[in-house]
Amino acid sequence: MAQQEDVFKKLVAHCKEYGFVFPSSEIYDGLGAVYDYGQNGVELKNNIKRYWWDSMVLLHENVVGIDAAIFMHPTTWKASGHVDAFNDPLIDNKDSKKRYRADVLIEDLLAKYDDKIEKEVEKAAKRFGESFDAALYRQTNPRVQEHQAKRDEIHARFVKALNDSDLAELKQIIVDYEVVCPISGTKNWTDVRQFNLMFSTEMGSTADGAMKIYLRPETAQGIFVNYLNVQKTGRMKIPFGIAQIGKAFRNEIVARQFIFRMREFEQMEMQFFVRPGTEMEWFKKWKETRLKWHKALGLGDHKYRFHDHDKLAHYANAATDIEFEMPFGFKEVEGIHSRTDFDLSSHEKYSGKSIKYFDPELNESYTPYVIETSIGVDRTFLSIMAASYTEEQLENGESRVVLKLPAVLAPIKLAVMPLVKKDGLPEKAREIMNSLKFDFKCQYDEKDSIGKRYRRQDAIGTPFCVTVDHDSLTDNTVTIRYRDTMQQERVPVEKLHEIIGQKVSMKELFKKIVE
Ligand code: GAP
Repeated sequence: MAQQEDVFKKLVAHCKEYGFVFPSSEIYDGLGAVYDYGQNGVELKNNIKRYWWDSMVLLHENVVGIDAAIFMHPTTWKASGHVDAFNDPLIDNKDSKKRYRADVLIEDLLAKYDDKIEKEVEKAAKRFGESFDAALYRQTNPRVQEHQAKRDEIHARFVKALNDSDLAELKQIIVDYEVVCPISGTKNWTDVRQFNLMFSTEMGSTADGAMKIYLRPETAQGIFVNYLNVQKTGRMKIPFGIAQIGKAFRNEIVARQFIFRMREFEQMEMQFFVRPGTEMEWFKKWKETRLKWHKALGLGDHKYRFHDHDKLAHYANAATDIEFEMPFGFKEVEGIHSRTDFDLSSHEKYSGKSIKYFDPELNESYTPYVIETSIGVDRTFLSIMAASYTEEQLENGESRVVLKLPAVLAPIKLAVMPLVKKDGLPEKAREIMNSLKFDFKCQYDEKDSIGKRYRRQDAIGTPFCVTVDHDSLTDNTVTIRYRDTMQQERVPVEKLHEIIGQKVSMKELFKKIVE
């Protein structure tokens, strides 16, 4: 674990050093849990967004997109339940003065029991060798059983406390299981209180009677309030979906782990409107589709898992997370929720406007049910960076840091490098770059030794480096070097487009999702 934390620190430093992510307003010492994306980060982020957007609106003829405003009429948030129920239970340690989410402290406690169980099983697996039956061991070993019983007991109390919104019981669990503050090491806790996560501001001058408005905490409501507009103007037939990418804002109590939990972040959300009674079928279908989208990136299938929610949000009748194995454990990257007709019905009630759909096949009107897929751009970014960051020891005794990003998402697709800065090689390199730059994001680099230039490109994840030498001038061939294998190949200039195009095409990813 300590080793993983070390890697994570290095990753954060790497993101800054190579222009991926900077702390916001850093010259003023930054702003808590707010980050800026640099020149390479924004390219990677845009590629992630394009992968998601096209997977929704290109691959599904019944999914269309919108781009709603961040500011919305304040009644939106009353209707959505966010004014009353978008709270986190917080608790302070009186000695360190640090604030925590009570539910996160208890989840960490549960994870500790999971770790204990896994360690027992791993130890036994080593002791017994090939004949070891892990499932049987879990069922019969007294120590594992003891940990499991404790875990189940805490879990049951936790779920009940969450569902009953019983803040006193949440504190009692923390007290009973002697959870200590990681900073002060003490158990000196305040009571648990609810804290609303929405940011608010005022619109209009006070003289006119300013209106309190919120910065949207999710993009989904922009879709719900436009449901009728899109359905009518697009003549959409149920089932259909509306997709959107945009910023969301939450005043997170415990903002930590870099861009994992931010106060300003970006979501990619899709609301899929279905006939009531068919929602579980669509819930299952979207779970499968979304997992395929993640796995198609090739970061390792074992790094993903589903996690069903213990406590359902105020709008949901089923919910699951797609978790990714970050350097700090399995964490939520995407939520898939069956939101019933909660949002549309509520907007209907608060606005007084009918939001019904007339289903010509059933010859009846109803309020559609909704399946939502909601993924964070920043968490996806972090998962891709974490899985790609690699430190390698080379045969010649040197080491390199390489970002093994999926080629299709890499900020720069190829670097074009003249071997030397003279003899017409820069001109030839420019000529090659000019022929490729309309299709691929290219970078020209002529400074330092070729070795150093390769390392620079490795560090930002450029999948191809093309070197132009003296022979290139006569035979029109170049050396192409592949990032992951470091292998080099001599190829005719006119083959470059095909070689690179094949590897960076989103079409290949899309085929994996639809097959
Ligand atoms: N509309 C449903 C919704 O917003 P959510 O589970 O609260 O559901 C969806 O958020 C996704 O948004 C999460 O899976 C996560 O990727 C991202 N997200 C939520 N809060 C975030 C934060 N503070 N920082 C970064 N990403 C966040």
